Amino acid sequence: MLDNNNFAFIRQLVEDQAGIAIESDQDQFVACRLLPVAQKHAFDSVDTLIAQLRNRSDRHLIQEVIESLVTHETSFFRDAHYFDELTERILPRLIARRGTERRLSIWCAACSTGQEAYSVAMVLGERFAQQLNGWHIELLATDLSEISLQQARSGRYTDVEVQRGLSPARRAQHFRHDGDGWQIDDRLKRMVRFQQLNLTSVWPPFPEMDLILLRNVLVYMSPATREKILIRMQRVLHPEGRLILGSSESSGIPDARFATVRPETK
Ligand SMILES: C[S@@+](CC[C@H](N)C(=O)[O-])C[C@H]1O[C@@H](n2cnc3c(N)ncnc32)[C@H](O)[C@@H]1O
Repeated sequence: MLDNNNFAFIRQLVEDQAGIAIESDQDQFVACRLLPVAQKHAFDSVDTLIAQLRNRSDRHLIQEVIESLVTHETSFFRDAHYFDELTERILPRLIARRGTERRLSIWCAACSTGQEAYSVAMVLGERFAQQLNGWHIELLATDLSEISLQQARSGRYTDVEVQRGLSPARRAQHFRHDGDGWQIDDRLKRMVRFQQLNLTSVWPPFPEMDLILLRNVLVYMSPATREKILIRMQRVLHPEGRLILGSSESSGIPDARFATVRPETK
């Protein structure tokens, strides 16, 4: 059981550092997630780990704690209807609009271990390779978590991970079996640029984005943090661009460029 003051401290720390809102009844969850971190660093309890965090000087330990409390759940072609909508409607329209400049900028803004960004890369390669020949394509994928990004950059996935969302045909086309896992094709790896970015911190300058995927991250944040991030997204998004949220998320901001894709819109 976690001491009440320590639980309150962790809630505040995660809110301050990542914008993530931990509910008041999640003390058990926090204790379970922090136990392996405490054990790894040889603290005799989670409370001792938290005592160490209180002076906020150990940046690595704080980052490790944040990463342990954040949900990294993802899969290839997660919510398949999104990718149908992207392939059949959103990308063809964006590509038609950008035909003069011949450039397209796409940002997966909380990409976790990379499956979302690689799914977009697969769609671009499978369906639009000819049309986009000679174009400048920027496919940026960012996340708070360095551990997730390490896997994303490596392009290595387990049996279970490649079974989630990938058809056997796609797996055969884009992956090779390598030891006890699967290695994504170098061509796809070269298409995606992975970069660490905390959405609640200062952002580096970005090109105007045609498409932003901001899926399944705002749902963990407070309404005020969500709004701040979405207002910043509005500035980065091209006037005719499109921002896509997750299936359980809505922006609450009237902007025709923000869309929640639902199965019935197919
Ligand atoms: C549930 S995953 C969603 C992954 C992917 N977008 C999808 O829909 O499958 C949420 C991701 O958001 C990241 N995240 C959480 N807070 C963040 C923040 N403040 N800035 C950037 N990424 C954050 C987490 O590290 C995690 O990888």
